Amino acid sequence: MKKKCLALALAACMAASMTACGGSKAPETTAAATSAATEKAAEETTTEAEGASEADTTEAAAAAEITTVTEGKLTVATSPDFAPYEFYAIGEDGTPALAGFDMALAQYIADYLGLELEVVTVDFDGVLSELQTKSVDLGMAGLSPDPKREGIMDFSDLYYMGGQSLVTVKANADTYNTFEAINKPEVSVGAQIGSIQMDLATTNSPDADIVALPKVTDIISELLAGKMDAAYIETDVAKSYQKNYPDLEIVMEVPYEMEGSAIGVCKGNEALLAGVNEAIAKALEDGTMEQFIAEANELASGEKYEGLLDDAGNAQSN
Ligand code: ARG
Repeated sequence: MKKKCLALALAACMAASMTACGGSKAPETTAAATSAATEKAAEETTTEAEGASEADTTEAAAAAEITTVTEGKLTVATSPDFAPYEFYAIGEDGTPALAGFDMALAQYIADYLGLELEVVTVDFDGVLSELQTKSVDLGMAGLSPDPKREGIMDFSDLYYMGGQSLVTVKANADTYNTFEAINKPEVSVGAQIGSIQMDLATTNSPDADIVALPKVTDIISELLAGKMDAAYIETDVAKSYQKNYPDLEIVMEVPYEMEGSAIGVCKGNEALLAGVNEAIAKALEDGTMEQFIAEANELASGEKYEGLLDDAGNAQSN
């Protein structure tokens, strides 16, 4: 099904002109942007409209030069299996709404650039291919600025520092707690397809039975069902899953050189990259990012869904 979507998207890309082509999936609008952010954006818009300061004029000029895949819109691909970065928060009426600090930052950047935000949800490897085919403007999915990806995207400045962990279940915590212990053909070790965690698996446990799955959610299910022994997962994400599934145990931190998250920017879009970096700098400087992180963590500890919605927009049972 996913393959088919992608194939269709690729065909659409080829049919369309070089620059203009939409995402492979109907875009979603984040309902989770904080009211504070919205208010702030409104304030900024007013200031900009009044042409108050030199800095504002520069921003406006930069935004005017920016071209995006769909005019007037900022199309962002994400993979919502990754709380507190991106996930669905279940509202009081049971409706899932995209949430997480990546999504709040996406809204902030769109507001900063004067663009309307559209979010395309795909599995993580889909985020990479959407960027590669230039079907979206940005990929925001807790992306590590892996130099191997530089051929298919540009990276923004870092906006968050995370870490990597080896995860198992409580009953196995004393067994699978070193690289040596998991580096055996009879030990199954999971990682998400296309992620740097796959590299961590092949580097640190090359002899293990490495199992690549499309969603972090799938990895968690396999661990809990006893079908997988251990997995490489981003630390904050593992901690967040742990809140729902206390049987999970983080057994050790895993060293990784390119630590931190950056935004994947459609390759060669210099003006957009500059605008994104300006927005990130501002959000980091004025405490907005900190606030987004706090809000995301709070929302993530409530009822949430991690994965893709079905065609009717409902959470699927995993
Ligand atoms: N940081 C890792 C990478 O860039 C994993 C990101 C996975 N993101 C997600 N939303 N599932 O490869």
